[in-house]
Amino acid sequence: MTAIQTSVQGHLEIGGVSTADLVAEYGTPLMVYDENMIRQKAQAFRQAFNESGLDYQVAYASKAFLCKEMVRLAEEELLSLDVVSGGELYTALQAGFPAERIHFHGNNKSEEELVMALEAEIGCFVVDSFLELELLHDLAKERGQHVNILLRVTPGVEAHTHDYIMTGQDDSKFGFGISNGQADRAMQIALCKPNYTVLGIHSHIGSQIFELDGFQQAITVLSDFLQGLRNECDVTLPVLNIGGGFGVRYTEDDKPLPIQTYVKAITDSVKESFGENGYPLPQVWIEPGRSIVAEAGTTLYKVGSKKIIPDLRTYVAVDGGMTDNLRPALYGAKYHAVLANRPNEECTELVSVAGKCCESGDMLIWDLMLPPTNFGDTLAVFSTGAYGYSMANNYNRIPRPAVVFVKDGESRVVIERETYADLVRLDR
Ligand code: LLP
Repeated sequence: MTAIQTSVQGHLEIGGVSTADLVAEYGTPLMVYDENMIRQKAQAFRQAFNESGLDYQVAYASKAFLCKEMVRLAEEELLSLDVVSGGELYTALQAGFPAERIHFHGNNKSEEELVMALEAEIGCFVVDSFLELELLHDLAKERGQHVNILLRVTPGVEAHTHDYIMTGQDDSKFGFGISNGQADRAMQIALCKPNYTVLGIHSHIGSQIFELDGFQQAITVLSDFLQGLRNECDVTLPVLNIGGGFGVRYTEDDKPLPIQTYVKAITDSVKESFGENGYPLPQVWIEPGRSIVAEAGTTLYKVGSKKIIPDLRTYVAVDGGMTDNLRPALYGAKYHAVLANRPNEECTELVSVAGKCCESGDMLIWDLMLPPTNFGDTLAVFSTGAYGYSMANNYNRIPRPAVVFVKDGESRVVIERETYADLVRLDR
């Protein structure tokens, strides 16, 4: 893992702020984001594309973590925004994000969501089904609007990742299959609709991907598809969106490639696949989510009860769990953690970190070496910035944590801690 920063008192420090101060000011559980790290990741994507010489858009996949302040940060970093529901779209619009840089995804967008996006005049709809192809066009026509669309296709590429987050294979709920001819059919329909401007195609093969070959294979298939279209119908489409999915480091077993390497592999493949056949090089759009926010996030918990089962296991329980981080329970995801108040002390105790929910599966980390833990210690779990807060829930009526951004020695709340009153707000 990267070297740990500590304050003069020897506490773990994030963004120049001592975790002891963060805990004292905001309580636990607390999600802490290193704002500069998020910005650096966004800049690394943009810089790598600038070096490629291709036209591009980097759309932050807001499902990874979204709140109004994150929207503002994305705007400042010149990112576009991928939203996948009315709620994500609403958040973006509330924070004043430029609508023309919003891309709307989803395999089952409702009529209300489509109208909301039409009203906002967003930049692009990623059409995912035959139903949407008709519905969106009818709505646009009724309103006298022209809309930009991409067609989401499945290139038949199986990414090496967890089954639940693999999306590019033929047997997927998303998009139009290329190999079974559905993508062709959808394209023919789309091209005949007067209120559509078909910009191109989109594919997302999966998430937390460490190899380059999946992206390269997908680009070959997508390029063949677009070139087939050009040969048969004399239509040249200007945009190729290859989704997100770039891997990050959760524990030292994860060896993600640098952002530059992913982008270079993608842009080189595009140049090769399209350039060879004299197809005008398309604009390349990507949608990184996890790789922008995961490693910037750390969750701070307070250590509570400890159960020592002789010769078997020591459970150390914290004041959060599957309510603020569902990933271990859902995917068997692995995390690394340290004691934030004694990060440099020798780790002599093998423990398993349990959450506080009424569920045996509510375990955050199995088998972690820590210094001997005491009630009241602060546990810092690293790389929780993606799909942690965004999948947080109120199981057992546990309020969701507060979220703070830290930067250059300053901290600020970007999402307030949920209260018990919030929990009953909608109850009749
Ligand atoms: N674009 C599309 C169309 C997607 O479906 C996704 C993720 C992304 C972009 C962003 O992928 P990323 O760069 O974040 O890997 N909850 C799961 C991840 C689900 C990903 C869903 N789609 C997890 O916690 O691992």
